[in-house]
Amino acid sequence: MKESCPRNLSECYSILDLRALARRRLPAPVFDYLDGGAETEWSARRNLSAFNDVTLIPQALVDVSSVRTDTEVLGQKVSWPVFCAPTGGSRLYHPEGELAVARAAARSGTLYGLSVAATHDLESVSAQGQGPRLFQLLGFKDAEINRTLIERCRAAGYRALCLTVDAAVRGKRERELRNGMGIPPRLSWATVAQCMVRPGWFWGQARRGVFRMHHLEPEDASGELVAGTRQLAAQLDPRFSWSDAEKLIQLWNGPFAIKGILSVGDARRAADIGATAVIVSNHGGRQLDGVPAPFDVLPEIASAVGDRVEVILDGGIRRGAHALKALARGAKACSIGRPYLYGLAAGGEAGVTKALDILKSELIVALQLCGRAHVGAIDSALLRTASSVELARPPS
Ligand code: FNR
Repeated sequence: MKESCPRNLSECYSILDLRALARRRLPAPVFDYLDGGAETEWSARRNLSAFNDVTLIPQALVDVSSVRTDTEVLGQKVSWPVFCAPTGGSRLYHPEGELAVARAAARSGTLYGLSVAATHDLESVSAQGQGPRLFQLLGFKDAEINRTLIERCRAAGYRALCLTVDAAVRGKRERELRNGMGIPPRLSWATVAQCMVRPGWFWGQARRGVFRMHHLEPEDASGELVAGTRQLAAQLDPRFSWSDAEKLIQLWNGPFAIKGILSVGDARRAADIGATAVIVSNHGGRQLDGVPAPFDVLPEIASAVGDRVEVILDGGIRRGAHALKALARGAKACSIGRPYLYGLAAGGEAGVTKALDILKSELIVALQLCGRAHVGAIDSALLRTASSVELARPPS
């Protein structure tokens, strides 16, 4: 399919359109940071193409005059089974950053996972409405950081936590290295010049003032980005273990997901230490290049632990039908990262709403055309392994 070139949100009909508009609005280095993956980006690409390895077999003449998409994820009712995964630094894409995402997700009736590397603090995000919400932690050397964050989450009304376990160290992302967008950022004059050629973005950022990573600043910092990102890099603990994760689960004593699982062994370990959910994810292909797509390993993980924990598929979803295929392979729900960030960059809160509306309406049409009136009725009978002829011309 030819790449479209929309000029505004009303010309966007798909997540790919929102991506094209985001590319138009963001400075190239910022777009690369959002869009890129690790090393050759093979895993990031595989996340997308994996969905084309199975096709959908519709069931005809079923009453689909009304369709229900509501379900429950991590102890919270959601109006549809796709939610916003945690992504750090969202203010880079729009001055309202995480605040805009929280409002749009709440309006859509779905979860928003706030990243520990967020650019707005968890209390301000919680004040954006009554939406279902979770907060994402990392394995830090100083256990006090997570203890304090957990108490703040409790006080601010977060109902679930997740621990990201595929980021013991940072992946090697070559687009970021070329642009000086690593941690801490080392911006070259060329990168700064590329930012200036997007004056809309530049003035939006300048008006909002200093860019901070609130949850990670060392106490003696004057509240600037570099201090936050340095703290993040310095605090990541490569020795963080399953028993450390178990302590966090016990401390929280509520719905808790382990994010970044790609094997049956790790999924079982997560269930054994008391996790409520596993998020099958390779971090959007941003950490280790060469790992499988979450969709590829979903069936074996769902059949091994699906009766003990909720299994959530994260990564590569760009169409409602992708979510449908993931649910048919045993996922309870799916999460998305780039799709809502493209929307955020393309048009702030309205852009995130657009991304969620597009995916939700595509999911509903796919459900109806497959003859399923409720997401709970989705099963593996809907799927068939694609033939080599179908694989030669996959839909985009
Ligand atoms: C992420 N992701 C991520 N994950 C996490 O646990 N904590 C974080 O702070 C971030 N930050 C982040 C920034 C950006 C720009 C992206 C694109 C992704 C990973 C994210 O939660 C999710 O796993 C992937 O984005 C899912 O893949 P898709 O939907 O982007 O294909």
